[in-house]
Amino acid sequence: MRLGSIPKTCRGGADIVRLAQGAAAIVCCPAERLDAATIMALPDTVRVIATFSVGYDHIAVEAAAARDIIVCNTPGVLSVATAETVMLLILAAARRAGEGERLVRSGEWQGWAPTQLVGTQISGKRLGIFGMGRIGREVGRMARAFEMQVHYRDQARLPENLEQGAIFHDTDKTFLPQCQVLSLNAPGDPSTRHWLNAERIALLPKGAIVVNAARGTLVDDTALIAALQNGHVGYAGLDVYDGEPMVHRGYLGLQNVVLLPHLGSATAETRNAMGFLALDGIDAVLAGRAPSNSVS
Ligand code: DGY
Repeated sequence: MRLGSIPKTCRGGADIVRLAQGAAAIVCCPAERLDAATIMALPDTVRVIATFSVGYDHIAVEAAAARDIIVCNTPGVLSVATAETVMLLILAAARRAGEGERLVRSGEWQGWAPTQLVGTQISGKRLGIFGMGRIGREVGRMARAFEMQVHYRDQARLPENLEQGAIFHDTDKTFLPQCQVLSLNAPGDPSTRHWLNAERIALLPKGAIVVNAARGTLVDDTALIAALQNGHVGYAGLDVYDGEPMVHRGYLGLQNVVLLPHLGSATAETRNAMGFLALDGIDAVLAGRAPSNSVS
């Protein structure tokens, strides 16, 4: 049996179907969309789709189940790296790192000045985490080292040992006003699409920092850009975008936003672990065992 790995240049459904001919397994990543039509057109040889990511919003999981194709992902191994990226975004936004870097590179930096690029200290501030799964909890753990008070919003309260002192909110109305810093860590699915919209942004304290290393679909870009322009949101740090690699042009001219190219899990240690976990899932399916990392 052939193992079909999708080359970097392949993004479309027709390419995926062509490359999958004769393959038992497909390795894909979030940049490759396996929608229902693509999955229905896959050859009968395909038994497993292993995505090199924890998110699987790019795969029509129900269509795969209808064809008895198992879908595996890479949970757990990327939580630390992704949480580090969240902390990077929080610090970069709060301390205006993007503006500072641009100033040095421009050659126009005149030297130290008392009021130059004054940012916000994050130590002691309130951090709100929307989505307290593995990555959200890791963000909470790291934020506590900065003496941040951690609040979270999720469907249900976590057991105390996982909560680690974080304060649960069961409504947006109590949660969002607490978020001097808001980190989005929920999965991208229809229930979270444009969760951060104008109405919810209005509930944030003025000058809040918003960071997103989860999925671009969680944010209504038009609303966030308007809030960055009028100062209701002070700064944003974004690693993911709705429709990426396209980035809403409105962000590009703003100084108060730090933009990264979906680097969340991009460390050598993590990418190796993700690759091995994806392969473990494939091995299990092809050996007739239930993989520990199947999503369905
Ligand atoms: C994931 O795993 O879903 C990330 O977005 C890729 O790092």
